[in-house]
Amino acid sequence: MADIHERRIVVLISGSGSNLQALIDALNTPALPQTRIVLVLSNRKAAYGLTRAQQANPSIPTAYLGLQPYLKANPDRTRYDYDVEVAKIVVKEKPDLIVLAGWMHIMSEGFLDVVCGEKPFDGEEKVQKSIPVINLHPALPGAFDGAHAIERAYEAFQKGEIAHTGAMVHRVVKEVDRGEPVVVQQVEIKEGEPIEAFEERLHKTEWEIIVKGAAKVLDEVAPIQ
Ligand code: GRF
Repeated sequence: MADIHERRIVVLISGSGSNLQALIDALNTPALPQTRIVLVLSNRKAAYGLTRAQQANPSIPTAYLGLQPYLKANPDRTRYDYDVEVAKIVVKEKPDLIVLAGWMHIMSEGFLDVVCGEKPFDGEEKVQKSIPVINLHPALPGAFDGAHAIERAYEAFQKGEIAHTGAMVHRVVKEVDRGEPVVVQQVEIKEGEPIEAFEERLHKTEWEIIVKGAAKVLDEVAPIQ
């Protein structure tokens, strides 16, 4: 019987978790076969995404680590140390892929250095094989980097500065929202459409591409035998 290699994902969230839900619903379907979410980590205690993980079937382990509580508990530590701590929690799960799905915290090199195996995460212990990290961003490559990209695109359309926008899944590098795109999907903005309706259509696109992006990178690093 063929060796069923289970592909392991860790998902980082901060909020409602509707994109996490899209991944959960796609697990072990043709869209995301032989895959398990082994941990959902949030930097916000009240993130509804944690509830979605706990209510999944089977339930998904969760963890929480907030930046401010961490710095308060460790006055001599920095944001860089916090990011190393987050990476430590993540790499201990031995994921094939790390997905930032609505993770509202800009990762410093502290995180990337550990998951790429450049820096140790425990004593001398280093990750043996660089773990890919992807992020979901509600805009086209290079268009509206950073926060509030949906609102900014909507306003730019009203001013006639753009004809359409979109969403992307991209690899995470040190420059915010600048890593190589993995999946890009255009989303039109309709004349006279209220922002709520536009936002809903954009989120639907995000739910599709987060699954496609995860599957694409998993097939690169842990192809189905
Ligand atoms: C998504 O629109 C994502 O692009 C942005 O934050 C939102 C998260 O939504 N960075 P959810 O928490 O997955 O519902």
